[in-house]
Amino acid sequence: MAKKKLRVGILFGGKSGEHEISLRSARSILKAIDRKKYDVVELGITKEGRWLQSSAAQALLGGESQPSEDLSGETGLTIAAAAAEPAAGTGLDVVFPVLHGTFGEDGTIQGLFELADIAYVGSGVLGSSAGMDKDAMKRMFFAAGLPMTPHVTLLRSEWRADAKKSTRLIEKTLQYPVFVKPANLGSSVGISKVKSRADLAVAMDLAASFDRKIVIEQGVGGPGVKPRELEVAVLGNDTPEASVVGEIVPAKEFYDYEAKYELNGADESVSIIPAKLTKAEEKKIRAMAIAAFRACDCAGLARVDFLMAPASKGKPAEIVLNEINTLPGFTSISMYPKLWGASGVNYSKLIDRLIELALERHREKQQTHFSR
Ligand SMILES: Nc1ncnc2c1ncn2[C@@H]1O[C@H](COP(=O)(O)OP(=O)(O)O)[C@@H](O)[C@H]1O
Ligand SMILES: [Mg+2]
Repeated sequence: MAKKKLRVGILFGGKSGEHEISLRSARSILKAIDRKKYDVVELGITKEGRWLQSSAAQALLGGESQPSEDLSGETGLTIAAAAAEPAAGTGLDVVFPVLHGTFGEDGTIQGLFELADIAYVGSGVLGSSAGMDKDAMKRMFFAAGLPMTPHVTLLRSEWRADAKKSTRLIEKTLQYPVFVKPANLGSSVGISKVKSRADLAVAMDLAASFDRKIVIEQGVGGPGVKPRELEVAVLGNDTPEASVVGEIVPAKEFYDYEAKYELNGADESVSIIPAKLTKAEEKKIRAMAIAAFRACDCAGLARVDFLMAPASKGKPAEIVLNEINTLPGFTSISMYPKLWGASGVNYSKLIDRLIELALERHREKQQTHFSR
């Protein structure tokens, strides 16, 4: 008898600002996933948070804003419950949440899968939320002894109550330029580079409109320096492995939303794989990527991003950890798959591996007792 095919749910869209990026990643996966091995079930989430199945999900993927089939009664909970029912025709063996940002990458949907006892690709609740929150992430990295650029975290209530005091606090610890970021977001939304006090308030107000927590970081390399941006793809559960190191050369002063997704042709940001580094630098960066993955208790996959200030005036080059992304862009030409491609794992193999890791992690968890 032929082995039963695994039923894999591909979940895409979502309420986050990265809805469109998610659709791009999902289209790539659906094109490449091995249909001989898997029965693929498409699951879409609209920008309003409605869950869609079958033809309505495909319509969302195809870019139709108003899916023809009305499934407004469906919520994430009912679909997750159906997915968790192996006896029913609706059962899923594993879900791949191809979601970026809020409600997809931040532990919330992972919590839903945990409750429904469904295997899923990627980090669990803690790894996802720690990787999403730049303030919590830095605390984890700090505890693991990983190098970072100096930073200050402020609540927007603190900023709004006393901007002068907040400014003093920032300037006591950091030197301009600084980067002002909402703690929980992605794709550079709400992030500003601030070169002097005159521009600080606008940047703080912008970040405060996106999150209750604001992270202010010292610009790596100092005034007038564009640091190198290095990225490593990590794959695995308890024994994660690191890819070769890649480099992004942003098309703008920093890697903002436009430089990431909107500039095309000659103006495009460029990636270089592998990055030109010394053997020692490469070794150090790959080890740091794995340490960062472990520090946040990640699983499955993550892309770890670094900033490198070039050597100057006798000072050696400085490499710091910037952030970890637990559900990085996943089109066939995104950095994460390209880094694995250059490390000997092609795109469809990578999808296979992530599904295996999801099942492995789910099995491992069965060994846990939840009461005595
Ligand atoms: N401390 C910093 N020094 C220099 N450049 C930075 C710093 N922080 C962020 N950047 C620039 O801003 C971009 C986006 O910041 P990042 O923290 O990666 O946010 P996101 O999670 O939205 O990708 C980086 O890729 C880099 O170009
Ligand atoms: Mg980033």
